Amino acid sequence: MKDRILVRGGKSLSGSVWVQGAKNSALPVLAACALNGGVSVIENCPGLSDTEAMLDILRYIGCRVTVKANTVTVDSSKLKRWDVPRELMHRLRSSIIILGALLARTGKAEVSGPGGCELGARPIDLHLSGLSSLGVDVRYSDGTIEAVRNGTRGGEVVLALPSVGATENLMLYGTCCREGVTVVNAAREPEICDLGAYLSAAGYAVEGVGSAVVRVARGRGTKRHVVHRIIPDRIVSATWLCAVASAGGEAELINTPADYLASVSGVLSRAGCRIAGTEKGIYVCRKGRLRAPGEVIRTGPFPCFPTDAQPLVSSVLATAAGTTVVEENMFENRFSHLTELCRMGADVKLRGKYAVINGVDCLDGRTVTSHDLRGGAALVVAGLSARGETAVLDMGYIDRGYENIVETLRSLGADVERTEDRAIN
Ligand code: UD1
Repeated sequence: MKDRILVRGGKSLSGSVWVQGAKNSALPVLAACALNGGVSVIENCPGLSDTEAMLDILRYIGCRVTVKANTVTVDSSKLKRWDVPRELMHRLRSSIIILGALLARTGKAEVSGPGGCELGARPIDLHLSGLSSLGVDVRYSDGTIEAVRNGTRGGEVVLALPSVGATENLMLYGTCCREGVTVVNAAREPEICDLGAYLSAAGYAVEGVGSAVVRVARGRGTKRHVVHRIIPDRIVSATWLCAVASAGGEAELINTPADYLASVSGVLSRAGCRIAGTEKGIYVCRKGRLRAPGEVIRTGPFPCFPTDAQPLVSSVLATAAGTTVVEENMFENRFSHLTELCRMGADVKLRGKYAVINGVDCLDGRTVTSHDLRGGAALVVAGLSARGETAVLDMGYIDRGYENIVETLRSLGADVERTEDRAIN
């Protein structure tokens, strides 16, 4: 969708917000619903364009899907296909996780490479070489992946990088393996733990999620009826923290685990925000001007600073007193929002994987363009503190990850609206 968000900056925020379910949990969990040949009820599933795309993939392969508010029911008993057309695969990055699910369930898969935000090369070599090393015949040519299972023994895969997606694919594949699949140097993100929780509930044997060695195996008996609740979205939580840090004011985030956000709230606290855990979630308050937090912000795999929160926090620090250095270690194209921020008056120098942000007093509202999901949200965050009106074009990216960014910000008192895109004037 080409709609734009208009933000009239300068209003401080106050109130409380409910944090939606995690996109990066819901998508692999939905792919996993293809495994058990039964009914999975997934609660707290965020209503996003990416979720819709994953549900279309499930429908295509023969699952019955019903959606009632934030509860999605997937019946995979009549799953009949092992191929997914390119146009469905290209709608999102997490489509690639269907590969492990199809291989485990049907023994074969024919899919294309995934789509998703253009954050750089985003290869899938670790997914494919991991499956290959477990004896799966994998052919990848002309953008099409054909994979066929050879037995169901399983084994150990040592990942060169703790890739979230590769860990998820290998975990799903492990569900058909007698001896299981052990992933060494596995990703430790909370979303991996959530996928593990779903798989456990479905009767598979899961060990070590949240640590660097994860093992998933067939287990004692697959359950045909599974109910699972998706964890809160820590990046959406980070977005609301940054919104308050940018606009000023205070808010309570309900339904958000403070420990998952420690690296982000640490930086914001050192920049001058007051952040504290509450009974229901997290409280954040920003009064007065922020200052550079005095450390290099280095993105990395969990529990390091999340790359998805980097654009949001850089937007906040664009007006903090002093200089902040950001080191982006995960994706090479994750600074595109900073070029747009410079058009709003930010002082940022880009040098390879480093961004040097010299805080200016105030940003100016301009027409800027989202180039990816979190970069787009970061521009909205910047607009909250900017003088005048900021128009953020290409909302389609933001819709991938936020259920209702405009309504949420409005409920906190921001002057924000969504309009149909028209020619830039
Ligand atoms: C997931 C998240 C994304 C987040 C990222 C890192 C989802 C849907 N997306 O993406 O929001 O920014 O984790 O926390 O969950 N790599 C390879 N070869 C591979 C796979 C990855 O070289 O086969 C590299 C990537 O280029 C990147 C790094 O490993 O530099 C991490 O990627 P990965 O953890 O796989 O990210 P995604 O699963 O794509």
